[in-house]
Amino acid sequence: MNGTHDDGAGPGPEAYDATPFLPARGGMPAHRRAAADCRGCPLFENTTGTVFGRGDAHARLMLVGEQPGDQEDREGEAFVGPAGRLLSRALRDAGIDEDEVYLTNAVKHFKFTQDETRKRRIHKAPSLRETLACRPWLLAELRLVSPELVVTLGATAGRALLGPSFRVGTDRGVPRPLPDEGNGAGNGELRVLATVHPSAVLRAGGGGDREELYAGLVADLRTAADAL
Ligand code: URA
Ligand code: SF4
Repeated sequence: MNGTHDDGAGPGPEAYDATPFLPARGGMPAHRRAAADCRGCPLFENTTGTVFGRGDAHARLMLVGEQPGDQEDREGEAFVGPAGRLLSRALRDAGIDEDEVYLTNAVKHFKFTQDETRKRRIHKAPSLRETLACRPWLLAELRLVSPELVVTLGATAGRALLGPSFRVGTDRGVPRPLPDEGNGAGNGELRVLATVHPSAVLRAGGGGDREELYAGLVADLRTAADAL
């Protein structure tokens, strides 16, 4: 999957790919700086900026969301909006110290549509093509942090690391080896555990559905903590 686009977009000048923007060397700070200037796909347009990962750069546990939301885009920091607050609570309830994890997103720019009044920016899921374009940043973070386990939150992150046929409904909750595919991030020992996205819990509204989804998220995070 690395460097190729299997959704019909062949290589060529129009190919989306962050690879040319990655620094040849350097650690997390060099990557963060370089990512600020990424033009690997059109999502950098109309946003405030790149939202790179945050947290412990040597964490044993890394969590991968979908993409920054409205608030994350404005503040330049991952998971600081409503989904981030819910995730913080779920981590606490699972007995995980948020200061000891590395938090990032599969896609580093906010994708949105405007409502009729152009006052509100409404989240739009990134395409597979955009997700694959941004994947080199995610693989670089995986290589730099070198966690023991990575938790994917929702479908986009799951597809980014487990392949386009990933389905959260059937593939969640069980640690498994990260498929290598020669991507340089899978070191043979790195495991991945998929779960739902905190936004899915928020979207479920009030009542029993929401409680059940939240309990499932916490249970999966607890499985992740126990697997370390
Ligand atoms: N949703 C995500 O997936 N990531 C964020 O940073 C915020 C909301
Ligand atoms: Fe680059 Fe990713 Fe932003 Fe696209 S979404 S411009 S690939 S950082």
